Amino acid sequence: MGLRLALLYFVLFVFLLGFAESDDMSTQLLKGINDYRAGLNLSSLTENSNAACLAEQLAKQFKGQECSNTTGSDTVPGTEEQFPNYMDFLNHCHLNATVTQDAEVMPACVPGLTPDLVLTNFTKSQYNEYLNDTKYAGVGIADEGNWVVVVLSTDTPTGNFSPASGSSWAAAISPCHQLLLLLLGCLFLLMI
Ligand SMILES: *[C@@H]1O[C@H](CO)[C@@H](O)[C@H](O)[C@H]1NC(C)=O
Ligand SMILES: *[C@@H]1O[C@H](CO)[C@@H](O)[C@H](O)[C@H]1NC(C)=O
Ligand SMILES: *[C@@H]1O[C@H](CO)[C@@H](O)[C@H](O)[C@H]1NC(C)=O
Ligand SMILES: *[C@@H]1O[C@H](CO)[C@@H](O)[C@H](O)[C@H]1NC(C)=O
Ligand SMILES: *[C@@H]1O[C@H](CO)[C@@H](O)[C@H](O)[C@H]1NC(C)=O
Repeated sequence: MGLRLALLYFVLFVFLLGFAESDDMSTQLLKGINDYRAGLNLSSLTENSNAACLAEQLAKQFKGQECSNTTGSDTVPGTEEQFPNYMDFLNHCHLNATVTQDAEVMPACVPGLTPDLVLTNFTKSQYNEYLNDTKYAGVGIADEGNWVVVVLSTDTPTGNFSPASGSSWAAAISPCHQLLLLLLGCLFLLMI
């Protein structure tokens, strides 16, 4: 019984740790963005886990790069970094280029990810023309190092990030499924 309980706590602990780590910054930023949209009478953006997957892949590429006036939200439009391995990121996330066509990728570099600066780097920069656009319905956010990447998705077939058919079970896993798995895991532990 003691061991079983210890295991149960361990699973819970690991789960909560993972949850807190990935969600703190992005939850706050999402709230800020949705407050901004509410102020413009626009619908809230909902979390899109596939867009978040792509954001994570991109954030990993930016990680380690210095912030400068040619990176992130200071980028002069048209000079944004192009990713030669963009297709690999899409494959990793089990996406097909068609469903990301109308998406908007917005990287920002903010030393220490100061929450206020992170938000204004999106709402008060050239990016606001995307954030105030009614065509976007979903959002995926990821951060690595000093970088935050926000990916906006639409609710149309050319931007909704719906996974390619035959995508693997693991990639399609969402936080909700994670919770389900956790509960199943707990049940399993209670039975042994
Ligand atoms: C938002 O909608 C409300 C009521 O529909 C209206 O009073 C307000 O002026 C609108 N604000 C903007 C910024 O459009
Ligand atoms: C970026 O900063 C450098 C030096 O700090 C400056 O020479 C350059 O003009 C700046 N570029 C832009 C686009 O502001
Ligand atoms: C994406 O999927 C659609 C239908 O599933 C297919 O017609 C299209 O060729 C695919 N596009 C790419 C770039 O793979
Ligand atoms: C964006 O973040 C940088 C820090 O990297 C900050 O200097 C700049 O003022 C921010 N820009 C906006 C528009 O908030
Ligand atoms: C959105 O922002 C752009 C650029 O700042 C501005 O030109 C446009 O009028 C804004 N649209 C709305 C609906 O606020």
